[in-house]
Amino acid sequence: MGMSESEIISKNIDITVRKMKFVMGTNKTKRYWHNDSPFVSTFWSALSTAFPEGERFFMDSGRFYKDDINDPILKEQLADFVRQEAHHTMQHKKLNSLMDDFGYDMEKYDGWFGGLLGKVRNKVSQRMQLSASMALEHFTANFAHQYLANEKFTEGVDAEIKALWSWHAIEEIEHKGVLFDIYNETKGGYIERVVTLPIAWALVLGITFVAQADMLAKDGKLLNVSDNLKGLWYLAGYDGMLTNMIPSFIRYFKPDFHPWDENDMELIEAWQAEYSDHIINLKAVA
Ligand SMILES: [Fe+2]
Ligand SMILES: [Fe+2]
Repeated sequence: MGMSESEIISKNIDITVRKMKFVMGTNKTKRYWHNDSPFVSTFWSALSTAFPEGERFFMDSGRFYKDDINDPILKEQLADFVRQEAHHTMQHKKLNSLMDDFGYDMEKYDGWFGGLLGKVRNKVSQRMQLSASMALEHFTANFAHQYLANEKFTEGVDAEIKALWSWHAIEEIEHKGVLFDIYNETKGGYIERVVTLPIAWALVLGITFVAQADMLAKDGKLLNVSDNLKGLWYLAGYDGMLTNMIPSFIRYFKPDFHPWDENDMELIEAWQAEYSDHIINLKAVA
């Protein structure tokens, strides 16, 4: 059987490990750094606490199959995927510690994600762990796509924090095929692939929303009705971030689905043109 067009794109993509520089934690950063909105700022901050544990889980579930991968290109892509994810965590910890300085208990939320993933590691097969990681890579790649493709989602965001999220976004797009290709190369099946999707998305969003509510409660903003409504519209309204992800959520159930069926490489190129000054290695590429 020949390779599909999406598999060819995936195989040819050069996963670039960029070392980044973000200046965060200056006293210029606003508490509500996303467009002065408590709801949206705490949403993104809560999601950011998922990364240290989440990305470690993704790396481990891919690395488990390292010796079963025959394709040398895919082996190399796995190594670069791991390098990218490790660097994401390192940079997101800066944002998390900034939120910690603002008085939010980021360690507590990190522990919620860690507790859940610890249970998954103990109780779920490696195959299903890989499947769950793929489901969440599909989640991050789609968030990334929305974040970059529609300017309204980044309106009024602190410049450095926007730089962090948009860098993370392009690398999530860049490596979105890696775990998926490993799964296919190691003969993963359809049912095990799709069954984790709704569960994984619901759990991550669920914990994020509880952490977000905890942050808003701490600030006495939980009942800030107008900001909450605006924030919910941002996420789940017409043309909202999560609303726009529904079609690709559904597409994942197609038997011949591949993450690169959606070719959004131009988002990476556009980012590269705008943010190359934040990259501290790869001067020649930039
Ligand atoms: Fe990441
Ligand atoms: Fe990722």
